[in-house]
Amino acid sequence: MKNILVTGGAGFIGSHTCLNLLERNFRVVIIDSFDNSSKKVIDKIKETCKSIDKNHNLNLEVFIGNLCDRDFVTDVFKEITKQNRQIDGVIHFAGFKAVAESIIKPLSYWRNNVIGTLNLVEIMDDFNCKNLVFSSSATVYQPMDNLKLKEISKLGPINPYGNTKYTIEILLKDLFKSSVKNWKLASLRYFNPIGAHSSGLLGEDPKDTPNNIFPLIANTALGIQKELKIYGNDWPTPDGTPVRDYIHVMDLALCHVKVLELLMNSESEYLNLNVGTGIGTSVLDLVKTFERVNNVKIPFVFDKRRVGDASYVVADNSLLMSKMNINYFRSIEDMCRDGWNWKKLNPKGYKET
Ligand SMILES: NC(=O)c1ccc[n+]([C@@H]2O[C@H](COP(=O)([O-])OP(=O)(O)OC[C@H]3O[C@@H](n4cnc5c(N)ncnc54)[C@H](O)[C@@H]3O)[C@@H](O)[C@H]2O)c1
Repeated sequence: MKNILVTGGAGFIGSHTCLNLLERNFRVVIIDSFDNSSKKVIDKIKETCKSIDKNHNLNLEVFIGNLCDRDFVTDVFKEITKQNRQIDGVIHFAGFKAVAESIIKPLSYWRNNVIGTLNLVEIMDDFNCKNLVFSSSATVYQPMDNLKLKEISKLGPINPYGNTKYTIEILLKDLFKSSVKNWKLASLRYFNPIGAHSSGLLGEDPKDTPNNIFPLIANTALGIQKELKIYGNDWPTPDGTPVRDYIHVMDLALCHVKVLELLMNSESEYLNLNVGTGIGTSVLDLVKTFERVNNVKIPFVFDKRRVGDASYVVADNSLLMSKMNINYFRSIEDMCRDGWNWKKLNPKGYKET
């Protein structure tokens, strides 16, 4: 049974990926600081897994600490080695992710995201663990109006958060090209993950005020906020609101596991992969779909454009589809239904349950 280290495994995408790994009989080791997640999520991962198969043998361990603490990360690898096991692969989610916050606190983002990753790969190297799937982001690209982004499109992040992701990609590429052979590395450039596990047991529960559109829509539907602000209705898009590529978090989770399996079965590899559905949906379309499938009202107002926003960010996902043999993604309706189901059942996130 392979041991997979999931950094940031208690977070939104990490928790859904841990579930997928457990379902596929991997042994999961989580490192998380719980800076942006609740400890309750661990029980929820187990509960969800048991709800799918009550006889499932849950191989899940959790180490609480920060990747910036080198000694702590080394101790986790030592602990696994002491048990005559080894970390066979790493899925690296741990990082700060709020674009606006990164503009206010760039040093904190550089330390957490870049130093944390540097520590991780150095320690992986020390313990001869060479398989890594990294959470990159579509923010590494220079947005292009009305053109889908390909892996070879021009890079050029426009905020500190994107710069940290871009820097880590360069670091990983350098590592791959170095004389230390056998690294198998993938940077997954996600577009906009939304939704939740269909059971309503796992979902998105950020600790601070949400920045992403989907939790804000759900909060408006619940009446936690009076109205949704849509930033700009004068973008060069069909209805004037920004167009994004939304992907169901369970599809994104599955992509991680598939990419990891591909790396573990390859000789040596470096991959940049767009992970999106390739379908553009405007903010207004998303709101209307959410209202329609869930039979709720989302009062909204238009506000002015935000600095740093782009009109159109959609993936050309042909490389992902061909490499991973993927031919199906959940629909925007599924994303709205599952995301709302989670929010309705857990209005205060994991806190209340
Ligand atoms: N959610 C998105 O829209 C999106 C889009 C593109 C890329 N990403 C990237 O995907 C990754 C996961 O995103 P998410 O939405 O699940 O975020 P999240 O905040 O829900 O999860 C991140 C987890 O990592 C932990 N963490 C952060 N820094 C840490 C550190 N230094 N050491 C240990 N734990 C740490 C947090 O406590 C949290 O549990 C992030 O790296 C993010 O930048 C997210």
